Parts: sequence; C-alpha cells; structure tokens
Amino acid sequence: MKGVILAGGLGSRLGPLTHITNKHLLPVYDRPMIYFPLQTLVEAGIKDILLVTGGNHAGEFLRLLGNGEAFGLKHLHYTYQRGEGGIAQALGLAENFADGQPLVVILGDNILERSIRPHVERYAANGRGASVLLKEVGDPQRFGVAELQGDRIVSIEEKPKQPKSRYAVTGIYLYDAQVFEIVRGLKPSGRGELEITDVNNAYIRRGQMRYDILDGWWTDAGLPETLYRAATLVREKTLMRQAVA
Ligand code: G1P
Repeated sequence: MKGVILAGGLGSRLGPLTHITNKHLLPVYDRPMIYFPLQTLVEAGIKDILLVTGGNHAGEFLRLLGNGEAFGLKHLHYTYQRGEGGIAQALGLAENFADGQPLVVILGDNILERSIRPHVERYAANGRGASVLLKEVGDPQRFGVAELQGDRIVSIEEKPKQPKSRYAVTGIYLYDAQVFEIVRGLKPSGRGELEITDVNNAYIRRGQMRYDILDGWWTDAGLPETLYRAATLVREKTLMRQAVA
C-alpha cells in the first residue's frame, strides 16, 4: 500500500491565520499540523508517501519535512495542486505515483488518537474496491454522513441539513486504482470543486465500498474551534504518554 496526504486548499475557514501560511503548517499543540497525518501513515506501516499541496506556501513543506527523515523515511514525494479544484482533484494528481497500487489517503487536517493499522491491514488483505472509516459525532452536519443499512453503507451525503445518521465519514480513505478513472468522470459540485464524497458514492454504486468504525478520538482542524480542540486533545495525549513513560 502507498499513502497520499492531501494538504492543499486555501484554509479560508481559518483566516487570518492562513493568510501567510498553509493551514497544514499551523501548530497543533507542539507540532505543525502536517506531522499528524504523516505520523498516522508511518505508524500504519506505509513508507511510500506522496504529499499533495498547493497555494502560496508549498515550498515550506520541503523546508519542514525534507525527505521525511524525522519520521524514519528515506524519501518523501511531493506534488503541487494549482487552484482550488477540491479534494478529489488533488487526489487525481496521485495517479502516476500510485502506479496501479492501492492507496491510503488521508486529509492533512485529520488527527487521530489511535493507529489506523488494523483498518489498513483489513483492507490490504484483499486490496480491492474502497473502504471509509466512520466515527460517530455530535455534529454530523459538518461532514460527509453515511447512511447505513446493517453492515452496508448505502449512501454518503456531503454536509446534509438532516443527516441520516451520526456517522461522519472521516478523512481517511482506502482506494484501489479504479479511483483515478472515477475522479476523471466527476463533475464539479455547487461549490465548484470535485468532491471526495462523489468518489465514495461511485464506489457505493459499484457495490465496492466497505466501512470500518474508528476507535479513539478523531478530529479535523480546519476551523478555529476544531483547531483549538485538536490542540487540546493532542496535549492530553502527550501529557498522558509522558506520565506513563
Ligand atoms: C471533507 C470531506 C467530508 C469529510 C471531512 C472530514 O470536508 O468533504 O466528507 O467528512 O473532510 O474531515 P471539508 O473539511 O473539506 O469540509
């Protein structure tokens, strides 16, 4: 399995913090945000990783991360997304890198308490179709929301006013190589972007989407309130680790 971190976008919901830097370089307690998705992939055993970034501060990622030495990597791949085409467009840029292999994709502002290794291993055992990781939340309207029937996921709605469940689709996705053909067939949504939810619904229509429920806490960090919450959760986890060490 290869890994892709999507860390583009203007981060406009975090202005003015993002006027002079990329959202994923902002601090979350004691580290830049981008460290967390990178660590999540490395902990899951993924060593071949592509970072997709964009905007005016893309060069800073190179200065910060280099070849990923701080994460025990030998090499880190980078690519650049022009404009604001959305998460699915950013993913489309990973086609050459993927080279037909299955991918773990993580949004650069998603921070988790626990390892995703069990989910990655379960997917990799067959490595076909797609899988999303869900988490029960109190504010599903802010996310892609899964409609479940027993052990089946039957649809995902992006930011629904009346959510069909409390299960948010987190920003961690497992895809086979079909994903690139699906991205090519997408049309921009109302906000003018190619939506990752449309990719996931395409897999659902093909009968090739599974889901897992995440253990432990999960948060995005794309709003002032969630950036603050992320810092608080990371701080608690760090202090707890120090206490037991
Ligand atoms: C994106 C996805 C959404 C998902 C969320 C997870 O939303 O579109 O489906 O639930 O990430 O963080 P965005 O953060 O771009 O609003």
